[in-house]
Amino acid sequence: MACVWKVILLSVFIVSGRSSNEMKGYFWHISDLHWDPSYNVGSTSASKCASSGDRPTPNAGIFGDYSCDSPWTLINSTLSAMRNIMPHPDFIIWTGDDTPHVPNEQLGVEPVLHIISNLTHIIKTTFPNTKVYSAMGNHDYHPKSQMPPEKNYIYEQTANLWHSWLHATSKETFKIGGYYTEKLLNRTGFRVMVLNTNLYYDQNKLTENIKDPADQFRWADKVLQDAAKNNEKVYIIGHVPPGFFEKKRDKAWFRKEFNKRYIDLIQKHSAVIQGQFFGHHHTDSFRMFYSSKGSPISSMFLTPGVTPWITTLPGVINGGNNPGIRIFEYDIKTLLVKDMLTYYMNLSYSNKVHERWEKEYRLTEAFRVPDASPASMHSVMERISSDKCYLQKYYEFNSVNYDLIECNADCRVDHVCAMREVDFEAYEKCVEKEGGSSTAPVLFTLLLSLMLSLLCLN
Ligand SMILES: *[C@@H]1O[C@H](CO)[C@@H](O)[C@H](O)[C@H]1NC(C)=O
Ligand SMILES: *[C@@H]1O[C@H](CO)[C@@H](O)[C@H](O)[C@H]1NC(C)=O
Ligand SMILES: *[C@@H]1O[C@H](CO)[C@@H](O)[C@H](O)[C@H]1NC(C)=O
Ligand SMILES: *[C@@H]1O[C@H](CO)[C@@H](O)[C@H](O)[C@H]1NC(C)=O
Ligand SMILES: [Zn+2]
Ligand SMILES: [Zn+2]
Repeated sequence: MACVWKVILLSVFIVSGRSSNEMKGYFWHISDLHWDPSYNVGSTSASKCASSGDRPTPNAGIFGDYSCDSPWTLINSTLSAMRNIMPHPDFIIWTGDDTPHVPNEQLGVEPVLHIISNLTHIIKTTFPNTKVYSAMGNHDYHPKSQMPPEKNYIYEQTANLWHSWLHATSKETFKIGGYYTEKLLNRTGFRVMVLNTNLYYDQNKLTENIKDPADQFRWADKVLQDAAKNNEKVYIIGHVPPGFFEKKRDKAWFRKEFNKRYIDLIQKHSAVIQGQFFGHHHTDSFRMFYSSKGSPISSMFLTPGVTPWITTLPGVINGGNNPGIRIFEYDIKTLLVKDMLTYYMNLSYSNKVHERWEKEYRLTEAFRVPDASPASMHSVMERISSDKCYLQKYYEFNSVNYDLIECNADCRVDHVCAMREVDFEAYEKCVEKEGGSSTAPVLFTLLLSLMLSLLCLN
């Protein structure tokens, strides 16, 4: 009952409160395409792709398989869908991870560069006149995740592949550290900063004992300081996000000191930062950043992957997803993020019936908020935390409608604490606090959740 009433009341509030005369712009965000060139739909052998490892793929279809990375047909279908849905975005954000999940021995420097080149090529030919802001993923290097904090062949070659997307000055820093900054679309007052956070990934052995790999923190601090001086607003783009993976308790990616320093950077410069756009999780989620006084100051949007690949990360059960792509709507005068629309391919449907991309949800409709500002995202997070209906809805979006089981009490803690607390210690405290409250008798909890799930609308 509670759910039904809230929905009705909030809809009335939102409809009456909406004003629509700001100037809106649009951009795409895509991530984690992970092309597997070995995918072979016609093959009769048990394993139809290298990225499945030894997992069976009996139903591998034309658009892919949940145990495999993307076949070319899926990559091609994704780009066609983007062109059909929105052929003229203001720009595109592409946050990396182009190669398949296979052992290093099955790749090499040239194979990795070829894959980056093929994906760059299809994006360029599909959107010939669109600016692309592109970040490297941990899989866009050989050996994977070992991004050096200095000049190297792969950064240099990638900078050349992305030549038409990069200003001359961007190319210079990119070759040194895989990062760059430039004015957003050459517009005065607006800036993008593309980071190479693979340097902070705990799997990266080359940066283990370095305080500030490739000088990126010092550089980013200066970029944001200058942005404030010049009255600019900034979007931050990267691949590996700080904080925790929402599908596995206590699973962080950054090294501890780097995680802390990243949060400090955002807190210090939140006045100019209007959005952070990352990938790597293959899931649909977001992260909150708060001031020292606890008010929401920034959000990081994690865009789902195109690859449907079920993760082999130990402890994650059935961690696959449907291929997802996302449009952001933003206020072109302030860069405030107004809304986001996620589209997806139901992979099993497309394999079985026919190729289909459909709208999954619009943030402001699904969570009844006026926009995607940090304050609104904080409300979304609070709604997910306190209302079973929103939790379940969010959970289904999290895997792009792939995993539709009930998000139970443990699941709720994992997701809510990951969204709320990027800081390592604050996360631990959140897990303790939120986890401690589930003391209701099991049968009662089961009954209550059954009743609530019957009442949830859409
Ligand atoms: C790519 O997509 C286009 C448009 O849907 C289609 O005509 C073409 O056959 C596809 N190519 C491949 C190689 O899948
Ligand atoms: C990938 O690029 C290579 C050349 O670098 C080309 O021969 C090949 O046809 C491309 N593959 C696809 C699927 O576009
Ligand atoms: C951006 O502006 C600079 C100088 O204002 C100009 O040289 C350059 O051609 C512009 N680039 C684009 C893509 O418009
Ligand atoms: C996806 O398609 C399959 C096969 O048609 C169907 O069983 C399933 O319910 C669909 N999932 C969603 C979320 O619509
Ligand atoms: Zn990935
Ligand atoms: Zn990654």
